Amino acid sequence: MVTIPAPDEDARAHSDTLRAGLQQFIAAEGGRIPFSKFMELCLYAPGLGYYSAGARKFGAAGDFVTAPELGALFAQCLSEATAPVLRQLENTGDFLEIGGGSGALAVDLMQAFEAQGILPRTYNILEPSADLRERQAERVRDVLPAHLAQRITWLDGPLSEPWRGVVFANEVIDALPTTRFVIGEDEVFEEYVEVEGDEFIVTTQPADALTTAAVRNIESRLDAPLAEGYRSEVLPQLPYWVQAVIGPMEAGVMVFADYGYPRRAYYHPSRTDGTLRAFRRHHVVSDVLAWPGLQDITASVDFTALAEAGTGAGFTFAGYCTQADFLMANGLEKFASLAESACADEIAHLRVREQVKRLTLPSEMGERFQVMGFSHGVDFEAAFLLGDRSYSL
Ligand SMILES: C[S@@+](CC[C@H](N)C(=O)[O-])C[C@H]1O[C@@H](n2cnc3c(N)ncnc32)[C@H](O)[C@@H]1O
Repeated sequence: MVTIPAPDEDARAHSDTLRAGLQQFIAAEGGRIPFSKFMELCLYAPGLGYYSAGARKFGAAGDFVTAPELGALFAQCLSEATAPVLRQLENTGDFLEIGGGSGALAVDLMQAFEAQGILPRTYNILEPSADLRERQAERVRDVLPAHLAQRITWLDGPLSEPWRGVVFANEVIDALPTTRFVIGEDEVFEEYVEVEGDEFIVTTQPADALTTAAVRNIESRLDAPLAEGYRSEVLPQLPYWVQAVIGPMEAGVMVFADYGYPRRAYYHPSRTDGTLRAFRRHHVVSDVLAWPGLQDITASVDFTALAEAGTGAGFTFAGYCTQADFLMANGLEKFASLAESACADEIAHLRVREQVKRLTLPSEMGERFQVMGFSHGVDFEAAFLLGDRSYSL
């Protein structure tokens, strides 16, 4: 059995402070809060939540590694996919990255766009975590030349003036606070978190109209209704979230990369306990209530729901494929061999090959991660030329 290193004293104290805050909040709310609220506070409580506090999350020394963290190849392929959109917009295109993480993507992508001979007018990062914003700004300052760095800005909310360009989010939808539901005999229940002694426990309450409608909508698209006792997650707010992040976009594309499944696979009768899990020090943790603030909490993405949300926002569906196919359709081989030709030694070569493997192998990120795109008033189908999976939605 693998043992996860125990949190050190500072981390424990941090988690205890958040735990006490959560307990007070739950008491003030009448003794229970929806699981989605619990998750939101664990991840984003100012100064204490997992994404809002100072612990290192990304990369080998953190809790997980994301595709942009592995090296520049992911960003280079994304530039290949979206530079034609910026060209179509004739230098009026802006780029909006949702959830900038460590800033790795922003830095690599601006350099990749420059190599493509087209820059977005501005590169905007929408990042709710003040701590991550600071890290992103530091990385931008340390790595990028001034003429690229000065195009990067941080937003407090989505763009509010009419705009054109590209919206991109990697591993953000999986971090949105999710609603947990359980199917009852003839109604839908929602999971809540209560306090028992010093522990958090999960209880259920009849779901409100929004959650019930979202679950019944899922069932209506499945071969059979979900069985009594079936437990899973749903994001009733996803259509509103997508609308909000695009803002008043007049023309452009949205691209989302994340782990997940089409609806039939997500709500497969055998997946009786959903996809919710936590990550700590590169290990999957099933107890999502443990160590608040110290572990990432996440749920897979229902890509059918994302397709509905994107088209519901007035965009045209452009494509859905695995991350491996998306990267290969957008120049992965070319960028990998360019990187290899710049390698000074065999170790550097091995690193490039390792990066390609991590990004594309089915046993790594290649199939678990998928990419979905939407367009509005521009051509974008060329980015999704390989491995179409839209039939599975
Ligand atoms: C798993 S991390 C991924 C970071 C980065 N995209 C990457 O691939 O390395 C999730 C990111 O989404 C951000 N985030 C979560 N909810 C968000 C929201 N509603 N709007 C914008 N960003 C959000 C988090 O603060 C964090 O930066």
